[in-house]
Amino acid sequence: MVSNREGVCCGDMQMVCLTDFEEYAKEHLSKATWDYYAAGADECCTRDDNLLAYKRIRLRPRILRDVSVSDTRTTVQGTEISFPVGIAPTAFHCLAWHEGEVATARATEALNTCYITSTYSTCSVEEIVAAAPNGYRWFQLYVYRDRKLSEQMVHRVEALGYKALVLTVDVPYTGKRRNDIRNQFKLPPHLKVKNFDGVFQETAGPEEYGIPANTLDPSISWKDVYWLQSITRLPIIIKGILTKEDAELAVEHGVQGIIVSNHGGRQLDGGPASIDALPEIVDTVQGRIEVYVDGGIRTGSDVLKALALGAKCVFIGRPAVWGLAYKGEEGVREVLQILNDEFRLSMALSGCRNVAEINRNLIQFSKL
Ligand code: FNR
Repeated sequence: MVSNREGVCCGDMQMVCLTDFEEYAKEHLSKATWDYYAAGADECCTRDDNLLAYKRIRLRPRILRDVSVSDTRTTVQGTEISFPVGIAPTAFHCLAWHEGEVATARATEALNTCYITSTYSTCSVEEIVAAAPNGYRWFQLYVYRDRKLSEQMVHRVEALGYKALVLTVDVPYTGKRRNDIRNQFKLPPHLKVKNFDGVFQETAGPEEYGIPANTLDPSISWKDVYWLQSITRLPIIIKGILTKEDAELAVEHGVQGIIVSNHGGRQLDGGPASIDALPEIVDTVQGRIEVYVDGGIRTGSDVLKALALGAKCVFIGRPAVWGLAYKGEEGVREVLQILNDEFRLSMALSGCRNVAEINRNLIQFSKL
């Protein structure tokens, strides 16, 4: 096994781009775990379109602009990060690597970017913070029928120094993921949704992704945003908006950010690719709050396209898990580093010296 900075090798494989990590993960994870990470809802149309939509977008590069120095830094919610790519919340990192979210937290701390911790982590938020005490983190939250459960999580992460709450709003019910049903997907007995350790009694009742079925509250509505505001001082970012109407409502309800997302195509099949939904949301929001996007980002030029269409930052879901499956903390670092290098190159090749120079003139709208 050889390892160097130009290209990291593991066995015969040289890791050059994010899909190399995908192939590695597919080969080395168990079928049920791979299927769980890869899953989309129903026919996976939206999951697949998340990637295809980026490939449809063409750029209008500018030339002769002295790109000898480039700067990929940006800010999110007033905090500087090294480049505009963070980690989206994904569940069960211990399925991919024994250290799980602790490894993800260390990698994001090392690369100085934002890590959105999933509620459904297989390490507790306390373990995550202890492993990477200086990391910049947001916490992803669901609203449960038992509001006290959500409230306790909010107070826990606030006390631990999490900097924002990401309220996921596209899961009133879990999408239908066919392979998970076929595989009867279940967390192996040695793993738990650590944040809820001891909260749920061991019952024989039906379980869904590590917690009792029907724990999420499908009656969640905009008034719950006011409820959340009443119990926290943290900024609230809504994840899962896909229309200008809901974007306007989010601004009116006083939240601090939106993640344009279709949950990686795991919820409503037939909804838009998230990058296709981004422009109408950016146009409606008009800079009043920050808009981010996730879903289908696999290359540096995808990041450039998302920023050109108005995203302040993008988030990656599955690629981080592939990095974990490859080599834990080092694998996630490698994934982020490759994306950073590709983004820097795409910026330079299109004539941008810093993220402030990325704008809609870079997009060839006639082709869309
Ligand atoms: C997710 N996603 C997700 N979102 C969330 O708010 N809470 C969660 O616990 C999870 N869990 C989760 C698990 C797995 C295996 C995947 C693939 C996704 C959705 C995630 O945050 C994000 O929206 C998508 O993953 C982005 O798409 P890409 O980057 O995976 O294409």
